[in-house]
Amino acid sequence: MTTRAQVRGVGHYLPKRVVPNSEFETTIDTSDEWIRSRSGIERRHFAADDETTSDMATAAATRALDMAGLAAQEIDAIIVATSTPDLTFPSVATMVQAKLGMTKGFAFDVQAVCAGFVFALANANALIISGQANRVIVIGAETFSRIMDWNDRTTSVLFGDGAGALVLEAADGTGTNTDRGILATDLNSDGRHKDILYVDGGVSTQSTGHLRMQGKEVFRHAVEKLASTAHTALDKVGLTGDDIDWIVPHQANLRIIKSTAQKMGVGLDRVVLTVQDHGNTSAASIPLALSVGVERGQIKPGNLIVTEAIGGGLAWGAVVLRW
Ligand code: UT7
Repeated sequence: MTTRAQVRGVGHYLPKRVVPNSEFETTIDTSDEWIRSRSGIERRHFAADDETTSDMATAAATRALDMAGLAAQEIDAIIVATSTPDLTFPSVATMVQAKLGMTKGFAFDVQAVCAGFVFALANANALIISGQANRVIVIGAETFSRIMDWNDRTTSVLFGDGAGALVLEAADGTGTNTDRGILATDLNSDGRHKDILYVDGGVSTQSTGHLRMQGKEVFRHAVEKLASTAHTALDKVGLTGDDIDWIVPHQANLRIIKSTAQKMGVGLDRVVLTVQDHGNTSAASIPLALSVGVERGQIKPGNLIVTEAIGGGLAWGAVVLRW
């Protein structure tokens, strides 16, 4: 018998304010046409001034718990993937724990920027299969609007805010790739690429800072590394692109998503796309897309799903799971 981390519930939260591309045309030298054609983004949501990452994370977690039919007290651990915490400390995860009314278990944040949710899922899987936790809420939540330089047209038009959450639970599997739950993970990072995607501030440099990105360079790495990490994860369990029902990619750029799907031999009709509506929500983008994919009736029980993401670090990886 093999222990598998299976999905019991999923949910998401998007802030009320929707910002169409046209809104940027009044403040910077850009156009709806440029943003759509270069990134695939049409609109994004921005958090209200008094809305924080932990608020959005809690809302998404509450919806995932509802779908799972579980109370917060029945959860053993919360992992939040974020690069935009409410405070330097404590972790967003402990804030979510308190807001959910959960008084036992443990909670911590994972910071791997846009790849954060993939890293958090892999960690949740490790906790479950090693017997350290039975039920884990894994959340991706971001307020990237707080770290935008609104005068920088190369970055400010690309990002958005939001949160998504999964409830995972230990279940018995057969040990084969037909099991439901997380089947394989592949994590990577290479710190030599810090300068192509970073925030030029932080606690020990005494400022908040703004996101800086050499878009073309990040694009080049993304196109090369995403298909490769997804193939590595699939190889580990003897699966190929043909077996995939849905790729649920990090939603950074439609051109990157198309190129990765093509390299994996998967048609765009088997890719969950939300980039047009959410922009790049960093660690929140994959759980948001999983939740929207279920809501749309795309993702169904038993489907084989591959998630993949790359972001600052660089950090990148993939998870293969059967819904
Ligand atoms: O989630 C973390 C990972 N992040 C990513 O995966 C993002 C990866 N990179 C990208 O998605 C793309 O590189 C971008 C969407 C950021 C940019 O697309 P690109 O096709 O690589 O454009 P570029 O940076 O080469 O810029 C082309 C031109 C430049 O003008 P010149 O030098 O050719 O005269 C830019 O200055 O477009 C200009 N430009 C803009 N024009 C209008 C850059 N931003 C804008 C803009 N509006 N907002």
